[in-house]
Amino acid sequence: MNKKLYIKTYGCQMNFYDSDRMEDSLKPMGFTLSDKVSDSDLVILNTCHIREKAAEKVYSELGRIRKEKAKRRKEGKNMIIAVAGCVAQAEGKEIIKRAPFVDIVIGPQSITRLPQLIANATDGKKGMVDLDFSPEEKFDELPEESRPQGLSSLLTIQEGCDKFCTFCVVPYTRGVEFSRPVPELYREAARLVSHGAKELFLLGQNVNAYHGKGPDGEAWGLGQLIRHIAAINGLERIRYTTSHPRDMDDDLINAHGEVEKLMPFMHLPVQSGSDKILKEMNRNHTADFYRGIIDKVRTARPDIQFSSDFIVGFPGETDEDFKETMKLVSDIGYAQAYSFKYSARPGTPAANREYLVPEKIKDERLIELQNLISKQQEEFNKKCIGLTMPVLFDRKGKYEGQIIGRSPYMQSVHVMDGHELFGKIAEVTMTEAFANSLSAIVQTQDEKISAATGR
Ligand code: 5AD
Ligand code: SF4
Repeated sequence: MNKKLYIKTYGCQMNFYDSDRMEDSLKPMGFTLSDKVSDSDLVILNTCHIREKAAEKVYSELGRIRKEKAKRRKEGKNMIIAVAGCVAQAEGKEIIKRAPFVDIVIGPQSITRLPQLIANATDGKKGMVDLDFSPEEKFDELPEESRPQGLSSLLTIQEGCDKFCTFCVVPYTRGVEFSRPVPELYREAARLVSHGAKELFLLGQNVNAYHGKGPDGEAWGLGQLIRHIAAINGLERIRYTTSHPRDMDDDLINAHGEVEKLMPFMHLPVQSGSDKILKEMNRNHTADFYRGIIDKVRTARPDIQFSSDFIVGFPGETDEDFKETMKLVSDIGYAQAYSFKYSARPGTPAANREYLVPEKIKDERLIELQNLISKQQEEFNKKCIGLTMPVLFDRKGKYEGQIIGRSPYMQSVHVMDGHELFGKIAEVTMTEAFANSLSAIVQTQDEKISAATGR
């Protein structure tokens, strides 16, 4: 029987990966994707808990879905509602208490049991909560035949985090670090490539803490895993995210110089440039340690570009501390970066801190930092004008004939009249730079100028 499934995914790419897996596992039950809540027999909200008021936003979304559920009921149709992801993990039974029309609350580690819970809900069971932590089981039981995700595919290689940064909920919602074994990942990677993936995005909350069991029985680091996966024929690009500076070991750094397929772009969050704040955040490194890592990576791969996350207004952050963040950003020069105002996450150690920074000052600092980051991003985009780079074109643009792809440095690149390049990696020459993207043209062979790699 054909049943409709609506999934809304919030937050990080790992949630998007999990949503794809949930969709895969529900296919045998007859579910196909729908883009409308009102049509759907099953609605899943795959939630994120990293931002302030995350739970409140989920409750208001649930309020809207409830109305659709009531409408369907009047027509004699049912709608099963499931809340998945990190808000589900953090709120648990509270969701059923506050929103009793929700049928299933399921944590990120329990998604393999979703089909069973759906079957139970179809039989009339209500208010089911499954928050068990067992990542081994999660990955063991995911369906083998994963759906082709496209030219750029996600592959979760590790989950969870043992770092316990004092502002962060991840160690509580995704649990302790778990790395999937190498052979299993190799098989999944090869399968994704055979389905047409040219680029693989290796994912993990703390991806470079990866230490999965290798075919030799030893724990392999991320550098080793990347070299191994890079041997897959047809795979052209490898990226990974998100890394922690403390876990950038020499083997991984060297892989950036040695593995052609590893793209010259790294998201390496530092959060703050002040050693005092870094200590308060329990980041376990100083600003100079971070600078040292950046230098080493640049030595291994001179054209590499960096991105980062920053938090402004962490409790106790003075003007001096903030200036050190601005100085760090100036010193490094980012191709892009994300910045957030600190917000207390209940249950995290920093939530009980004193010396809170007033909201107005947080706002001012955020604007100042974002201005600097935007300037750097635009400068980098401008530097690319005239350079020819391989771009993986995997999206259609807003305009007729326009296609969009990513440069090796993660910039969005758009080309007009490029139909024949869609689905390919093509060498194009950058002609114009914008704040968040570049436009490019296809060059003939002899017009090509040297690529931006500088190597
Ligand atoms: N307040 C503000 N930003 C946060 N982040 C995580 N927790 C918080 C918080 N409590 C940011 C960090 C992290 C990114 C994913 O979200 O910068 O790297
Ligand atoms: Fe959160 Fe810190 Fe772990 Fe990143 S390293 S997931 S910020 S605890």
